[in-house]
Amino acid sequence: MSTNTNRTVLSGEEFARGLAEENLVKIERLGRLSSEGEAPDDLSIARLLRVALKNELEATEIAAIWLATTPEIEVKLALARQVGDEAKHYRMISERLSALGVDARAIDPREGGYSPLFDYLRHLQSTAARVAAGQLTREGIALVRNQSFIDYCEARGDKETAALYRDHIQQDEQHHHEMGRQLLARYAVSEDEQRVARQAAERTLELAEEIQEMARLKAGISRAPGC
Ligand SMILES: [Fe+2]
Ligand SMILES: [Fe+2]
Repeated sequence: MSTNTNRTVLSGEEFARGLAEENLVKIERLGRLSSEGEAPDDLSIARLLRVALKNELEATEIAAIWLATTPEIEVKLALARQVGDEAKHYRMISERLSALGVDARAIDPREGGYSPLFDYLRHLQSTAARVAAGQLTREGIALVRNQSFIDYCEARGDKETAALYRDHIQQDEQHHHEMGRQLLARYAVSEDEQRVARQAAERTLELAEEIQEMARLKAGISRAPGC
């Protein structure tokens, strides 16, 4: 902790740790809401994988937009890796849908438009806000949602989809989330950066919850994977 004039500013490390802990409580609540109650009988794994395609596409594009406009080389390279990972997830999910008998090439996840979370994230400018919202928070949400999706796949006897998420996708999402935490510790060191980072994380959680509840009310969708 360092003191400047009469204010105390947390170190980047302290700030990142604190925000990750606060996030976790809210993300776990979101995960409970997502897997609460009985899933409708007609809620197929294929239907949830279509939602996953949209999330992966949005994650790919956000990381790509930020990659071009983030000045710090270290963050740029982390985003470059993320672009590749999310695009790979899209391809793997698309292949899994084909194996389930769905013509995945005929799906355009942009139908119905981009999500309000995509619109919010793409306009974030500060590096601290981007890594807090996009990596630490959004990827943290994905980890919890993917786990509840894995449990759902296993309960329905779809071991292959469960394994795809458990053995491949979750490993990458864990890395993105961890990367967010490390980069946040490095780039959220001033009071101002910490303030915008916290606001961005909070807004990301609010939007994710609104989108999740809307999907449940309008389409009976619950237990959908993240990105
Ligand atoms: Fe990710
Ligand atoms: Fe992903």
